[in-house]
Amino acid sequence: MVRFEGCDGYVGVFDSGVGGISVLKALVEELPGEDFAFFGDSAHNPYGEKKPEEVLALSRDIVRGFLGSGCKAVVIACNTATSAAASQLREEYPATPIIGVEPALKPAALSQPHGRVLVLATPLTVRLDKFQRLMHTWGGEEHVVAVPCEGLAARIEQGDLKAPDMYELLQRLVGPYVGSVDAVVLGCTHYPFVQEQLAQIIGEVPFFDSSVGTARQLRRRLEECQLLSGRKAGGTVRFFSSSDDPAELELYHTFFELARMS
Ligand code: DGL
Repeated sequence: MVRFEGCDGYVGVFDSGVGGISVLKALVEELPGEDFAFFGDSAHNPYGEKKPEEVLALSRDIVRGFLGSGCKAVVIACNTATSAAASQLREEYPATPIIGVEPALKPAALSQPHGRVLVLATPLTVRLDKFQRLMHTWGGEEHVVAVPCEGLAARIEQGDLKAPDMYELLQRLVGPYVGSVDAVVLGCTHYPFVQEQLAQIIGEVPFFDSSVGTARQLRRRLEECQLLSGRKAGGTVRFFSSSDDPAELELYHTFFELARMS
């Protein structure tokens, strides 16, 4: 089991790697008085190209670790793990607030009532029922174009986000939709880190992600359960990784700075 020493009373936040840091930034902005333990499962990235039962098993182990270390709530800062594991984990831990993320298709579709929304997500997120239902709710294939972005989360994990091969990969994934979509949903928490590069290819359309909505949902759930820290500022953020390469934690800090600057 993963251990998070010294994280009693913290909010546990996890993703398959650096992506969840885009959510962490919004959590810290919304709740600066809370303590957060961020776990990146970089040793098992990408989740989006695994079987749902593997993602459930990995997520369960992490949640067990957070709760065994005294964490008071969990944020699944990963669309893929939310689709594959959130409902099951909520059944297993009914007393704990477990907050997930889902592609921000609702605000995107509402902003473009007659338009077409491009949703970028992992292959597993796109395939699972949760997303298929969401897509159906917001206009189905006529209004929603879902692109499974194979290889993108794993490439973002490597850093060097402005290298030529990154632009080539993004061009391959979204190039075919240039000029034919009215909004873009970043349906994987890794993708906000390449929003600027995507905008250079796709042009002037609005982008949507779920980080701010997730942060508000965490606040609501902590309030409901009377679990807010009561502090207005001064919270701590601690980083953990399943990778034993010390460079990984440095990468998390770099991504956290990057997120805070955006
Ligand atoms: N960041 C994750 C998500 O939001 C998963 C990326 C991956 O590991 O494939 O879906």
